[in-house]
Amino acid sequence: MSYAKIEIAPSILAANFACLGDEIRAVEEGGADVIHVDVMDGRFVPNISIGIPVVASLRKATSLPLDVHLMIDRPETYIEEFVRAGADRVLVHQEATAHLDRALSLIRELGVQAGAVINPATPVVMLTDVLDKVDTVLVMSVNPGFGGQKFIPGSIEKIRQVKQLRARYNATFRIEVDGGVDTANVAELAQAGTNTFVAGTSIFHTPDPAGAVREMRKLATEALSQRV
Ligand code: DX5
Ligand code: ZN
Repeated sequence: MSYAKIEIAPSILAANFACLGDEIRAVEEGGADVIHVDVMDGRFVPNISIGIPVVASLRKATSLPLDVHLMIDRPETYIEEFVRAGADRVLVHQEATAHLDRALSLIRELGVQAGAVINPATPVVMLTDVLDKVDTVLVMSVNPGFGGQKFIPGSIEKIRQVKQLRARYNATFRIEVDGGVDTANVAELAQAGTNTFVAGTSIFHTPDPAGAVREMRKLATEALSQRV
C-alpha cells in the first residue's frame, strides 16, 4: 500500500447514465486512476442512486479499480455483494454503522481494500481506533447525497489532521477527498495531504472530461512540487 501516487477518481454520479460506457472511456483516455461509484439508499442520505447491478456492469466496462462509496445504513449487510459484483475498494461511513471495526475487517477479509469515511460534522478523531484497518480515509468535503455542491473550506484542515494522524501512527493509508473538488481547490488539497481526488461535476459537466482529468492531475502535481 502506498500513498505516494496522486490519484484522480472521477465520480460517475455526474456522468450521463444513459451512456456510462462512453463516459468511462473518456476519463480513461484522460488517465483516470480509479472510478468512484456513489451508492445511496435514501435513508443514510436523502437521495437514491445506483446499486449492485450497476457495479457489476461497470466491472465489465473498465479495468480501472472501482472505488465503491457506500452511503447506506448498516453497510455491512451489503459489503459481500458489492465485492462479488466487482468492487476493488469499499468505503463505509463511520456514521452509518455501530460496527465500523467489523465492517472494515469484513471488507479486508473479502480480499479488497477498505476505506472509512467521515462526514463534515464528524471529527477526525472518530477514526483513531480503526487506523490499522483502513487502506483509505475519505474526508467528505460536502454533506453526502448530491453532486454539484459547494466545497466546505474547513475540509482542508481536516485533511491536514488526517495526515498528522497517519504520521503519528506510522500508517500508510491513502487520504481521499470527495465533494466540490475542482481546479480552484485541488492545489491546496494536494498540499494539505490529499492523495486521491474524487470529482464529479468538475470532470463530467465539462465539454472535455479527459482534459479535465489531465488538468486536475497537473495542478495537484505542480502544487506538490512547489511545496517546501
Ligand atoms: C456526494 C458524492 C460525491 C459526488 C461528488 O455525496 O459522494 O462523490 O459525486 O460530486 P461533485 O464532484 O460534483 O461534488
Ligand atoms: Zn462519493
